[in-house]
Amino acid sequence: MTQRSLASRIVLLLTWQIIYEGVSSSSCKSLPCLYYSNTHSLQAIEISSSKVYSVVPNLHSIEAVDVHVKLNLVYWSEAQPNAIKRLNITSGKVEDVLTDSNLGQIEGIAVEWESGLIYWTDYTNQRIEVAQLDGKNRRSLITQEIRNPRGISVDPRNGYMFWLSRGSQPRIERATLSGHNKRILVNLTRPFLFQPNGITIDFSGNRLYWIDARKRLESIDFNGNNRQYFKTLSTSSHPYDIVLYGGVFYFSDATRQSIGKIDQATKQSLGNYTGLGSGLSSSNVLGMAMFSPLRQPKGSSACHNNGGCSHLCLLLPVGSQCACPTGVMLKADGKTCDNKGSSTFLLFVDKTQQALYQIPLVSDDSSVSRIAMPLPLNGVRSPVGVDFDPVKGRVYWADGYRDEIFRAHLNGSSQEQIVDRLRTPGGIAVDYVGRNLYWTDREEIE
Ligand SMILES: *[C@@H]1O[C@H](CO)[C@@H](O)[C@H](O)[C@H]1NC(C)=O
Ligand SMILES: *[C@@H]1O[C@H](CO)[C@@H](O)[C@H](O)[C@H]1NC(C)=O
Ligand SMILES: *[C@@H]1O[C@H](CO)[C@@H](O)[C@H](O)[C@H]1NC(C)=O
Ligand SMILES: *[C@@H]1O[C@H](CO)[C@@H](O)[C@H](O)[C@H]1NC(C)=O
Repeated sequence: MTQRSLASRIVLLLTWQIIYEGVSSSSCKSLPCLYYSNTHSLQAIEISSSKVYSVVPNLHSIEAVDVHVKLNLVYWSEAQPNAIKRLNITSGKVEDVLTDSNLGQIEGIAVEWESGLIYWTDYTNQRIEVAQLDGKNRRSLITQEIRNPRGISVDPRNGYMFWLSRGSQPRIERATLSGHNKRILVNLTRPFLFQPNGITIDFSGNRLYWIDARKRLESIDFNGNNRQYFKTLSTSSHPYDIVLYGGVFYFSDATRQSIGKIDQATKQSLGNYTGLGSGLSSSNVLGMAMFSPLRQPKGSSACHNNGGCSHLCLLLPVGSQCACPTGVMLKADGKTCDNKGSSTFLLFVDKTQQALYQIPLVSDDSSVSRIAMPLPLNGVRSPVGVDFDPVKGRVYWADGYRDEIFRAHLNGSSQEQIVDRLRTPGGIAVDYVGRNLYWTDREEIE
């Protein structure tokens, strides 16, 4: 082999590896930096130079975008399959945050930068959920009386989240970051149905601004009072998301593949960034997030050191509250989650989703409806039977793919295969008193 062909092989190998690992090639060299989705890639505009960077190309269908400035992370949601992913700007690595089948279409993501959490709206399943930055300890916060939620913003200074609901009862709502005291701030039904598209917090003016499908930009205060009409965008055709930064509103235009700018003080247009599409016909400019410390001002420190909580620490308007992943009970100390999980639950297998699910039958929060959560197990292919050993807290299941029986803790730890080469396993039963395991095979019971 000549040196030249060896070198070209190494280059090819490296290129392949870069694409394979989804390592991003470039981003802004100076802040502020506006990250946005053009449906098929994550891109960024360096505000000082207007230079456009393709940060993570070749994504399938990317929608919501948010950032964690201090930790140098960019989060986004993807559809088909639905997922939340993130880019670590420091390492250039793209990581899966949540990819399981129990996610619907996610049209809004908000990073709670002070406590290290992500909040998101699930349009399909009509709920708001929270998890730690790596996707762990996921909890459903709002599941009732919520319709078609879209944009979401959080304010860790005051312990509130704000979100938009679309559909037949469009509105702007508010709840504490623990998901309590849900309240409608404004009904957008009169004199027309105003479908809200994007929301942004004015941290210095303490107001919420939103843009609707009629291209109207309006605002209210954090209690829903003093509604003010700001402007109707004349240049935009389909505004999707909005961000306020340095006295300028940036709004994405889904059908013109552009991002426009409006001066907050004079209400005048400051021009636009155009040609932001990917060249593919379905490329729309959708979610946006400004990467600048000014967009993530210092909030309440009540969740520093995780607020003494074993799992989730959620901010309130005053102080904070410990919370557990969905289905897990908080102990009487108000800080520790019961690692054994909810004491009463139902387990079932779903062959088409290739997963085992747990539905808690009791909950520490009656405002959250029962949701089947997939167990975090590896390599489930064709589950056919499941049972539980309450003595050791282990789930046992039979998998018909390689005709094996496995067991693991409910949190996915200590997963192991315990029986293999069965003929055709079916039902499975744990005799937790006699410490025996029974299963049905095609012809015999063992
Ligand atoms: C991002 O990558 C850097 C460099 O590899 C690493 O030190 C840091 O811990 C990563 N951040 C997160 C949140 O994983
Ligand atoms: C919004 O409408 C609902 C009924 O659909 C009503 O109960 C609520 O008081 C209204 N809220 C505001 C702020 O107008
Ligand atoms: C973008 O800005 C240019 C110059 O300010 C203007 O001519 C054009 O109409 C604008 N286009 C859109 C889509 O806003
Ligand atoms: C998983 O659950 C087991 C049994 O309850 C426990 O011993 C273990 O510490 C848990 N692991 C994690 C990572 O929470």
